[in-house]
Amino acid sequence: MNTNRNAFILGTLLLASTAAARADEGQWIPMLIGKNIEQMQQMGSRLSAEDIYSANKASLKDAVVIFGGGCTGEVVSDKGLLLTNYHCGHSAIQSLSSVEHDYLTDGYWAKDMQGELPVEGLSVTFLIEMQDVTAQVLNGTENVQSESRASEIRTANMVQLEKSATEGNHYKAMVESFFSDNQFILFVYEVFTDIRLVGAPPATIGKFGGDTDNWVWPRQTGDFSIFRIYAGDDNKPAKYSADNKPYKPRKHLTISTRGVDDGDFTMVMGYPGSTREYEPSYYVDMITNRINPKMIDLRTAKLDVMNKYQQQDAAVRIKYNYKNANTSNAWKKWQGESIGLKNFDAIGKKKAYEAEFERWVNADEARKSRYGHIMQAYADIYPRYTELYLLMKYYNEICRYGGVETMSVARQIAPLLNSTRHGSQEKADSTAAALDVFFRDYDARVDSQMSVRVLECFMAGTDKKYHPEDLETAADFAPMYGQSILNNETSLKAALGKWNKRRARKIMSDPLFVLYNNLNKTILQNSKEYATLTDSLNALNKLYMTAQMEFEPGRHFYPDANFTMRVSYGTVSGYTGNNGTRYDYYTTLDQVVEKSRTGNPDYEIPQRLAELQASKDYGSYATDGSIRTCFVANNHTTGGNSGSPVLNAYGELVGLNFDRAWDGIMSDTMFNPDICRNITLDIRYLLFVVDRYAGAGYLLREMTFGNRE
Ligand code: ARG
Ligand code: GLU
Repeated sequence: MNTNRNAFILGTLLLASTAAARADEGQWIPMLIGKNIEQMQQMGSRLSAEDIYSANKASLKDAVVIFGGGCTGEVVSDKGLLLTNYHCGHSAIQSLSSVEHDYLTDGYWAKDMQGELPVEGLSVTFLIEMQDVTAQVLNGTENVQSESRASEIRTANMVQLEKSATEGNHYKAMVESFFSDNQFILFVYEVFTDIRLVGAPPATIGKFGGDTDNWVWPRQTGDFSIFRIYAGDDNKPAKYSADNKPYKPRKHLTISTRGVDDGDFTMVMGYPGSTREYEPSYYVDMITNRINPKMIDLRTAKLDVMNKYQQQDAAVRIKYNYKNANTSNAWKKWQGESIGLKNFDAIGKKKAYEAEFERWVNADEARKSRYGHIMQAYADIYPRYTELYLLMKYYNEICRYGGVETMSVARQIAPLLNSTRHGSQEKADSTAAALDVFFRDYDARVDSQMSVRVLECFMAGTDKKYHPEDLETAADFAPMYGQSILNNETSLKAALGKWNKRRARKIMSDPLFVLYNNLNKTILQNSKEYATLTDSLNALNKLYMTAQMEFEPGRHFYPDANFTMRVSYGTVSGYTGNNGTRYDYYTTLDQVVEKSRTGNPDYEIPQRLAELQASKDYGSYATDGSIRTCFVANNHTTGGNSGSPVLNAYGELVGLNFDRAWDGIMSDTMFNPDICRNITLDIRYLLFVVDRYAGAGYLLREMTFGNRE
């Protein structure tokens, strides 16, 4: 008993010291930022909690938006002008481009509002308010023993809350779970859908460094694009119309051109997508040793094929531009994440934590009966869960993320074929119309070869019992592809254009549609077990979260990211990489030009940028005779934070977050303030490119600049 206690005290001391060193870790809930504000002020911030989030007056949160489906943006003028990353605007810019109007290569600058280009399907979402609804969501679950029943009750309560929050208004509401179902918050949103492209630099600036430099510091990418939000006459969301007016926001950000110094306070507000900071060692083991290596192999195969054809053919280069960037982004991230977790000994650290946790649990009978089973249950579930999780990952890569692109066609046609009497002509027409988007960016050579390579990976990476019955080896795919019409826009459209039973039956026996069904059959056969395991894991995670909070009562916990608005804060600082190299906190335009001389095509730059650098024609944008391009700080960010405003101590915009540095990408699972860095585009480089490079200085006139010394 006594030794247990001593060990436990020692353990808590150890934990307390690591917790104190982690001042920069965390993605905090804006509404509750009051709990952090003292620490933020000690680190240099001059803001009050109300400046950041207020239920009553305009605050910084009103200028921060969800851009599209997975990025952040910020409003910088009273006419709805919006900044985000180039890579966040990439698919919009691509959708407006053609070989004749190649805005990817040339960039685009609207000369006036008439020249701003509407982007179909793009949206911008404002957060109106948030509200803790934990009590309402848990209402009725108090005496319910079964976790699945409790979960049903919670879901019903959430639906009800969302419904009443949107009654009589045009808002969208969502209740989100925090701390593995230990807390619930209601979010009310306003969604605008008339969004227009205002400006974008050429890819040689916006994507400078390309995939060579992606996830890497030092970095000099001009990763920005500019849009404008339009609204109806009443300033409310309206679908596109030439008569719509620039949106008048509640709040727009003030821009600071003073730049940042080593040690300066910075704060990021945005929409981090997903982190898993409180998982057991079993999870980290699964990711590092089982999932990432297989997914990396699969995407290496995809990229081999895409790269080959993109180099040969200009049309393919444009068609697969975004797909390639998207595929390569996670591919590279997984590699950095695995290396980082290994270097940081994340599994060892988790195991040590778990050992202390277990000692604490076992030191008390009541705790033992509540939490004593947790670690063993994880150990029991993970092996089988890992096998099925991997299967689901493969399925998603193949059928949803374009590993076998024709499976996406099958997925789009399936609802038509499965509806009563195979649907109507009307339904067939709308299916055909939806396929336009697919075929616009499709190349049969790329897809057919990519498919074989991807299926090879899948079949090598999983047990034979999970393979579709019509595939003995991946090579069997080629003849199926040859006989299919799912890859042929003309034949497919012809069939859909005169839709009848016979044509429906023909598609149903199309070899690639059969393959799609067989893949789904495998998933279906395993989905029940997978769902049961997932439910058990969720229930365990919920309990483990509660237990961890009890185990470390002095620690201020932040919830895992879940694509709701968060505040991260930290300080500008260089770092020492795992290889011992010391990295400075900023980069310059001179380095852009140096890199452009290496001959690597990812470092190609526009002639005009080289000229501006040579003439040092920097105007007021220079610091010590050069242009600062990017800087790093230790704000805790993740995917979704792209485009997020990076704010100084006064809440002024000093840059746009766009990436993390290689050595610290493991921060989704474990954050290390010594080495985890978010990469920010210096706002002065953005202004320099807009004003000096593009000659679009008129855009600056609608922005507000801070005048603090
Ligand atoms: N790594 C950044 C993010 O996760 C940027 C990705 C876009 N850039 C690229 N070269 N693919 O989104
Ligand atoms: N580039 C990422 C994004 O699009 C942000 C970088 C990160 O994952 O931190 O959200």
